[in-house]
Amino acid sequence: MPPKKSEIHVTINNVPRTLMVGQEESLLTALRNASYFSVKFGCDDGTCGVCTVIINGKAVRSCKIKAVDVEGAEIETLEGLSKDGKNHPLQEAFIETGAIQCGYCTPAQILSAKVLLDKNPNPTENEIRKSLNGILCRCTGYVRGIDAVQRASKVLRGEKLKPFTHIEQILPKDMSSVILPEAFYRRDESRNPLPPLVFTPSEMKKTNVVGKSEIKVDAQKLAQGRPVFTDDIHMEGMLYGALLTSPHAHANIKNINASQARQLPGVHAVLTFKDIPRVKYASGGQSYPQPLPYDQVSLDNKVRHVGDRVAIVAADSPEIAQKALDLIEVEYEVLPVVVDPEKAMQKNAPIIHDEPDTKDIYDAQHNIVHHIEAEVGNVEKAFAEADHVFEGTYQTPKQQHVHLEPHVCITYFDEDDRLVIRTSTQVPFHIRRMVAPLINLPIKKIRVIKPRIGGGFGNKQELILEDLCAHLTLATRRPVRMEYTRTQEFTSSRSRHANIIHYKVGVKGEKVTGASLYLIGDTGAYGAHGLTVNMVGGFKGLTLYNPPNAKFICDVVYTNTPPAGAFRGYGATQCQYGIEVLMEEIATKLGLDVVDFKKKNWLKIGEEMYLSEKLGEGREGVKQALQSSGLEQCVEIGLQATEFKAKRKKYKEQNGRYRRGIGMAVVMHGSGIANLDMAAATLKMNDDGSFNLLIGATDLGTGSDTILAQMAAEVLGIPINDIIVYSSDTDFTPFDKGAYASSTTYVSGGAVRKAALKVKKQILEQAALMLDISDIANLKLENRQVISPDGQSVTLAEVALSSLHQLNQHQIMATASHISPVSPPPTGAQFAEIIVDIKTGHINVERLLMVVDCGRVINPITAAGQVEGGMAQALGFALTEEMLFDEDGQPLNPNLSKYHIPRSAKMPALDVIFVQTDEPSGPFGAKSVAEISMDGGAPAIASALHNATGLWMRELPYTPMRVKSALQKAHLTDN
Ligand code: FES
Ligand code: FES
Repeated sequence: MPPKKSEIHVTINNVPRTLMVGQEESLLTALRNASYFSVKFGCDDGTCGVCTVIINGKAVRSCKIKAVDVEGAEIETLEGLSKDGKNHPLQEAFIETGAIQCGYCTPAQILSAKVLLDKNPNPTENEIRKSLNGILCRCTGYVRGIDAVQRASKVLRGEKLKPFTHIEQILPKDMSSVILPEAFYRRDESRNPLPPLVFTPSEMKKTNVVGKSEIKVDAQKLAQGRPVFTDDIHMEGMLYGALLTSPHAHANIKNINASQARQLPGVHAVLTFKDIPRVKYASGGQSYPQPLPYDQVSLDNKVRHVGDRVAIVAADSPEIAQKALDLIEVEYEVLPVVVDPEKAMQKNAPIIHDEPDTKDIYDAQHNIVHHIEAEVGNVEKAFAEADHVFEGTYQTPKQQHVHLEPHVCITYFDEDDRLVIRTSTQVPFHIRRMVAPLINLPIKKIRVIKPRIGGGFGNKQELILEDLCAHLTLATRRPVRMEYTRTQEFTSSRSRHANIIHYKVGVKGEKVTGASLYLIGDTGAYGAHGLTVNMVGGFKGLTLYNPPNAKFICDVVYTNTPPAGAFRGYGATQCQYGIEVLMEEIATKLGLDVVDFKKKNWLKIGEEMYLSEKLGEGREGVKQALQSSGLEQCVEIGLQATEFKAKRKKYKEQNGRYRRGIGMAVVMHGSGIANLDMAAATLKMNDDGSFNLLIGATDLGTGSDTILAQMAAEVLGIPINDIIVYSSDTDFTPFDKGAYASSTTYVSGGAVRKAALKVKKQILEQAALMLDISDIANLKLENRQVISPDGQSVTLAEVALSSLHQLNQHQIMATASHISPVSPPPTGAQFAEIIVDIKTGHINVERLLMVVDCGRVINPITAAGQVEGGMAQALGFALTEEMLFDEDGQPLNPNLSKYHIPRSAKMPALDVIFVQTDEPSGPFGAKSVAEISMDGGAPAIASALHNATGLWMRELPYTPMRVKSALQKAHLTDN
């Protein structure tokens, strides 16, 4: 029986509406059913705030209120904010300041801000932070949102404002003469947002579109809450899929009986391991061939973590689907559980993968899925000859991505009987290739469409729902939608690998002469990204200081916890935390200045990265040397902006309960995977001289569509709004490996630049024909025109019309592919200023400043957004975020009320400064920027904690309890 519906009468965006709603239906569901798609779903417990709408003038979480209870209410959603096609000042300000990244939280943020400004036209920064505090944003660090509300409030008060942009300064040769704008010293201790500051060497070539803070190409539609995400469609006859997950961390499924579920009216399919073929795969979305082992099947007769897949159903409504799940009878044989990776390697530990058909596990008896060893030079000899040898063991937590848009997928057959997978993924092409054998369809019968993505951070570089949803469509021949609950994001998606990191470092004089790293990577129940993440961690962790003698040993271990996967930073975050803290411990013990000590040892331009050949990503790498680095300048600028040395000295002398500390860390990352990552781009000219840019690259909210358009526009001498970007769809866009490994700017950018150069040549040839000029070498392409040396010109529109309709008729278009033999590291310096309450152990971070060399900055506002967002995630990693499990593998905090990610009210000042360098291998000199910002937060906070208290803490996160107990153990507090 379909649930009883009743009428409600409301006014939505000033339009009277009658909605038919169920008795228990939330307003969120009712509004989405009525096509107000700007209202988003983000959690199960009313904590994320992305469902916020305005009801009778108040900001209200629509998931927390029943639709039947709003009879007669005046409701406002983002769809109603623009009037007569004109944006509200808040929408404009969010667009201008770069406050919109993925845009999933944007409707709620704008509406909350509107409620504030309606009541208080001149709010303080703290009042703005408070008004946004109820709405989680995982992309931005909230800086630009606050900026946007401040700007909008000024506009609404009638002030005239200058366009929002970054600040530019010339980078002097002599770093002692650097002068920063006064605000960047933060002497007033405010948290007011500052625009990004970009230092440029005077010799760097000037550009027109590249380097400008262009508005994001998708900002308008996101600011208006248009239906752009995977779930923002209604499909005729669509069924609702749901996943039954395991309540046990380790069990065999002895029997499963789905007959009652199948008989429930409204249920169209119930599938268990008995119903679909057993095809082995690995879920990590990586290049072909994916690293072994293939240790998963779509539905198995064994479960290996709480939240593991058991059965799937498709039904007429989510409620019926849920009832059907409850009716599936599963008989489990519960097995012993191991959640600690060190215990998992011991003799007699439960064997998690005892199935005979998983090949290529390194040592299944000891749950070791991969064992990696690599060495250069002779580490033992280096230690024997060193003046000092230091050791340290560090532990990092299992962190969840918490992208606000959950995994969501819709599958259906199109009119040609091809399976369409509309999914929120970072890797559409890998998904198509990986899903094909699981559902027994040839690749040519599958089309993957990636709409806008509401954040991913690596968690959508996995096959998570696509195979299950496709199985249900195959079983029913109907469109099926599946979406994870927030709890399932914690129990059934992926996380950062928890690591145990043991470093040993030999020092001779002040030089690091040898280093070894033994790494234990907890990959959870399945291998997924276990090999590649930990290999990258080893490479970056031993290359930042690049000793000629270096050894990496790693065990990647199965445990009965949800699988780990890719997560921004990809192993480098964990290993650089360890080495940075140990380097500072060493400097302290040797009585050396920590900055000088690091500077003597960090990787320098021209140096070969010794381990680059041995440690690639899941395979051998390629020999590489560092070709560009602004690290020294980054450090110098950061030291100055924070007045580091004076504060450091002063803070060492503190007494009392609240103690200040300042810390720093240096970091490096990579730009794509050398000799493996490939991207292609197609550029096609239209009749009016505009261009379609077709790219397989996936913009997760990072702004990659925008910066790729900027690159094409730069080559073609046109404004960015002459480029129409389409990404990505496996039928219409060329291959791209997808968004991961910090590869989009660098690798996809390389492809776009090449395609644009090819198109430019065709344009010049056509113009030469039109102007009757024999040599194209002297023709210039600028301001939408081709100009000859004698002053003749033709517009691009004329060139397009000529090529399509008149002379030498052909379509001006080109496709280019790009792969790089190197992966140039961006570098950066992270600074942290904190106050520690030594009575409670609470750390309050007051400021995070990152000074970054990411080569040429293609778009300073979007790049700064990446750095701010990364610092915010690093803050959570350092202080609060840790997925916890009891000994039986039961999750203890699988929701957003128990797992805390940073909110706007407590967010420190986040400042970003760029030092531009010119990377010879990068498009326009660019390197990557999205991941490096994740790497420095934790070690910089560790450094500040030591400065404040004298305490070295080696286990993250630094929760008040952990800090307090460490202070007590070290007798650094009386409390
Ligand atoms: S969906 Fe309403 S608070 Fe999260
Ligand atoms: S922009 Fe806020 S969650 Fe992505």
